[in-house]
Amino acid sequence: MKRLLGSTIIAGALVAALGWGAANVAAEQDPKAVIKDRQDTMKAQGKALAAAKGFSEGRVDQATAEAAISDLIKTTSRIVDKFPPGTGMAEFPGVSGAKPAIWTEWDKFKAAPQAAVAQEQKLLALIKAGDKQAVGAQSAATWDDGCQVCHKPYREKL
Ligand code: HEC
Repeated sequence: MKRLLGSTIIAGALVAALGWGAANVAAEQDPKAVIKDRQDTMKAQGKALAAAKGFSEGRVDQATAEAAISDLIKTTSRIVDKFPPGTGMAEFPGVSGAKPAIWTEWDKFKAAPQAAVAQEQKLLALIKAGDKQAVGAQSAATWDDGCQVCHKPYREKL
């Protein structure tokens, strides 16, 4: 009886663990809502970069650009949290442009935002220094040598 009870408990724990795993992706987070939130966050990142470019062209004031890029650094640093498994283009073709490689080489993907964050930090320093010309060039570099470092291997343009 003791033995039987033991194995029942183990089986129960296994079922609970598996059940929780499935619920974690499917029920608690609706995959389509995850995709929408992720794409909105990406668009916001684009807006932040546009604010820096705007500052370089005299259309956006310094404080606004500084706040936008400070926020951007925080967002990009945590962007991989927006990619739970089961929310990519394999499962949602035409809805998501997140390539399957994200989840097959997760460790590599997890490191991908570092390039963007490094470029964003340079951008923030230049905004603070008020060097508009350099901010213009660094806004472009942040996209080319930052965002695109992740987009090229991991994003399919929709
Ligand atoms: C760690 C990887 C990664 C980084 C870093 C990253 N992106 Fe993305 N981005 C993606 C992926 C993957 C998608 C596709 C997401 C989807 O459709 O589910 C995407 C999609 C987008 C989109 C399209 C959103 C839409 O509505 O479909 C924009 C705009 C974008 N990113 C802007 C940026 C900008 C600007 C930066 C840099 C400041 C950036 N991204 C940094 C991975 C990244």
